[in-house]
Amino acid sequence: MYPRTDPATRRPERLPRGAFLMGPGSMTDNTTATTAALGALQDPLDALGVHWRMYAPADLELGFGKARVLLGDCVERMRELPDGSADVVLVDPPYSSGATREAGKTGYSKTMTRSTDGDRARWFGSDSLSTDGFAFLLRACALEWFRILKPGGHALIFIDWRMLPAAMAAVESADLRKSGVLIWNKTYFGMGKYYRNQYECIMHFTKGVGCDPQRRDIGNVLSHKPLRTRNGAIHPTEKPVPLLRDLLSVVCPPGGLVVDCFAGSGSTGEAVLRSVPGARVVLIERDQQYHVKASLRLAGVMRDLYGDRRTQEVDGPANDDGGPGADGPGAGAVGVADDLDEVA
Ligand SMILES: C[S@@+](CC[C@H](N)C(=O)[O-])C[C@H]1O[C@@H](n2cnc3c(N)ncnc32)[C@H](O)[C@@H]1O
Repeated sequence: MYPRTDPATRRPERLPRGAFLMGPGSMTDNTTATTAALGALQDPLDALGVHWRMYAPADLELGFGKARVLLGDCVERMRELPDGSADVVLVDPPYSSGATREAGKTGYSKTMTRSTDGDRARWFGSDSLSTDGFAFLLRACALEWFRILKPGGHALIFIDWRMLPAAMAAVESADLRKSGVLIWNKTYFGMGKYYRNQYECIMHFTKGVGCDPQRRDIGNVLSHKPLRTRNGAIHPTEKPVPLLRDLLSVVCPPGGLVVDCFAGSGSTGEAVLRSVPGARVVLIERDQQYHVKASLRLAGVMRDLYGDRRTQEVDGPANDDGGPGADGPGAGAVGVADDLDEVA
């Protein structure tokens, strides 16, 4: 298993920057994926000067374990995460809502969410599932969320009105406990025949009785403007960081571990790193293009928060000044390595 932990110090084994190890899975696929990701990431990561390591299949560790960006199918990859390790699951699955009727979902439809890379014939993974297929995917995920969450941990799942009933049932069927549905008020309306669309939903579940909130001064309608690709969004359905920050502020304890298994642009990662002291994040993304984009985004955030730490020791100094350095790269390393020893 890797990353390996030094048994004497209980700290992650130090590897040369950019080194990667072959995993126990398919050598061919891993080699291809890792080589491609390494090719796209090595120079920009080196230029940013943040600490990074990569493991097959294209799994990136940033900032001495504060963030991990894993490539692959979320259900498969979540199976590698340890039981009871996460405080919060915050996800935005592909809604598969692109057509009003089931038949319309199977083909390429003008309502499907398009890739932002200019390739109009491509939409992102799983966004054209039937309702049954979507429910199946969500139940498979929810079984893993239940397993990886700590008792009392929280799951927040974006969804739209159309898929809400199927999605609630799928998640509930994995024994997660309904806590409510939040509304993301986008502050202005978009398309819609009668009452035009202005909101999305966020399902809130807990594993058993939820842990106490971090704050109680926030309502269940959150108003934040959406991002637009023309205004620099990386992903066609990218969620605004301030919205994610509000969500996390209620349920994520300092030093918590957050998992987003439908990472897209890495917005959840940015919200975690910027807003929750000492928190760590694991992102999973199946699309190599977004895996690279999310990785670079988080590396940029690391650079912003911690500066050039490429030469810092694994157990480097952490400040006590309450700023980002207080939970700096060295501070989270042991916990993450322990939590994620089994992440291949
Ligand atoms: C709705 S988008 C998430 C956007 C993200 N919240 C953001 O702010 O950028 C869903 C993402 O999940 C990815 N995805 C779809 N199916 C997946 C799967 N089975 N495993 C991992 N990722 C998947 C898609 O490639 C897409 O990038």
